[in-house]
Amino acid sequence: MMNKLIIANWKMNPPTLKEAVRLARSYDKKGVVIAPPLVFIEEVGKVLKKASLGAQDLKISADKLKRLKIKYVIIGHSDRRALGETDAMIAKKLKIVLAYGLRAILCVGEKWNVRKRGIAAAKRFVASQLRKDLGKLKNSKIKNLFVAYEPVWAIGTGKNETPENASEMARIVKKSVAKSKIRVLYGGSVNAKNAKLFLETRNVDGLLVGGVSLKAEEFNKIIKNA
Ligand code: PGA
Repeated sequence: MMNKLIIANWKMNPPTLKEAVRLARSYDKKGVVIAPPLVFIEEVGKVLKKASLGAQDLKISADKLKRLKIKYVIIGHSDRRALGETDAMIAKKLKIVLAYGLRAILCVGEKWNVRKRGIAAAKRFVASQLRKDLGKLKNSKIKNLFVAYEPVWAIGTGKNETPENASEMARIVKKSVAKSKIRVLYGGSVNAKNAKLFLETRNVDGLLVGGVSLKAEEFNKIIKNA
């Protein structure tokens, strides 16, 4: 049985609906979440029987997302933060998503200018980011919260944090979110080769995959590993 969560974050890909549906069919396994571009989401949702549907952001109302059978919503991805989304905006979105009973995947992670000062600086940054993003969230709502630790310098760059540091970061995230048990994912240039290492790492409960989630053969290997 698969108990790790694997998120496919397609961003603005693939180019056609046909391709999106083809990929979705081949990833339709339990424990997989597919986050297609919003324009394809309804059609992709129709072919999924075991995998879940995710939105890449709270772009339209949570109520609409729910009607589209979306279960997960990614919030605070570094692409959004780079466009000017603040921790205060992220905190608001998070509150809404959880209030609607949707599952939130909150992305946190430091940039290279922080990480280059050492892992301790990165830990402090992530703990502080998390505090701001979570705001005054009630413990009862935290059961639907997932946190994706994604070092910004590792996203789409082919670079990775070491599994040991990813594990330590996941531990810190878990420790800082009240007493609740939350699941922590790792993301940033995950591929079929390194996925296994991260999945075997303590405290890491799944993966958030961007680029490779569009490569059917490679992504299916990751799903198998999980
Ligand atoms: P990547 O993207 O796997 O291409 O680095 C990760 C992400 O979407 O956050």
